[in-house]
Amino acid sequence: MKSLIQFDQDGRLTHFLTIRGLNRETLSEILDDAESFISIGERQIRKVPLLRGRTLVNLFFEDSTRTRTTFEIAAKRLSADVINLNASRLSTNKGERILDTIRTLEAMHTDIFVIRDNASGTSHLLAEHMPPHVHIINAGDGRHEHPTQAMLDMFTIRRHKKDFGDLRVAIVGDILHSRVARSQIHALGILGTRDIRVIGPRTLLPTEIERLGVNTFSDLDEGLEGVDVIMMLRLQLERMEGQLIPSSQEYFRRYGLTTERVRRADPDVIVMHPGPINRGLEIASEVADGENSLILEQVTNGIAVRMSIMAKVMDGQNSSQEADK
Ligand code: CP
Repeated sequence: MKSLIQFDQDGRLTHFLTIRGLNRETLSEILDDAESFISIGERQIRKVPLLRGRTLVNLFFEDSTRTRTTFEIAAKRLSADVINLNASRLSTNKGERILDTIRTLEAMHTDIFVIRDNASGTSHLLAEHMPPHVHIINAGDGRHEHPTQAMLDMFTIRRHKKDFGDLRVAIVGDILHSRVARSQIHALGILGTRDIRVIGPRTLLPTEIERLGVNTFSDLDEGLEGVDVIMMLRLQLERMEGQLIPSSQEYFRRYGLTTERVRRADPDVIVMHPGPINRGLEIASEVADGENSLILEQVTNGIAVRMSIMAKVMDGQNSSQEADK
């Protein structure tokens, strides 16, 4: 789903809906600006006035710990006013369409909506109906994309590995239901990574996934051979229809990331996971908490990257310069 909706008439990024269709320059700008926003998190006063007087609404129709909270912290660090709406208390539960809910909130002068929904394409639909001064950020839509997660993952990789071109990256687990995997594959491809491996049971690998420029493996040990980055994924049991894995024990035996399996990768491999993690199902505790793990660093980096994305959609220029004021 390439989106022209996310650009304005002058070609500026005005919504952040999908990684697909963005170019390397745009991704690099977001990552570069995030570097300057990282330093704000390390100051005593963790605030800059970039979005002072602006209002951001977090609208999550699915559960979230990391994304919702880091968006809130990111917006507050940019001095925006933040409203977190509890989806279980919204008028959508009385039959109101989500578009009417958004229009109602827009009438209260909201500048940015951060949307998570279990239907693919919700953010696109809403962006199509917004006036030019309102910005939509996709915080995960169904199985489609989770673009801000992919950007924080790229940021984390870049801080440890620098050159994307020569990287060997393994994405492991439930690829079929993963919006994160789709966004990661697009982002890695745009940034020039040639060796992208997706690893999982055949039942959890989408048909024709190779069209995205990846190699598929159903043997984890084989796929991990010599990789520089391992990105683990959660089994999305809530999205599965029918029995796609034999049992949790059998899944962990064949696809769980253990210390022994990490040894098949490059000695300097980094282990990542977007969370929430299920210990003993897709990843052993000793790996999740081990020296190669960047799982909590990903969370921290998510704040700076989301600051960068918000600054970008509000004003494509000057975000890093403004941050230093
Ligand atoms: N990675 C991620 O999207 O986590 P949350 O569901 O906690 O936001």
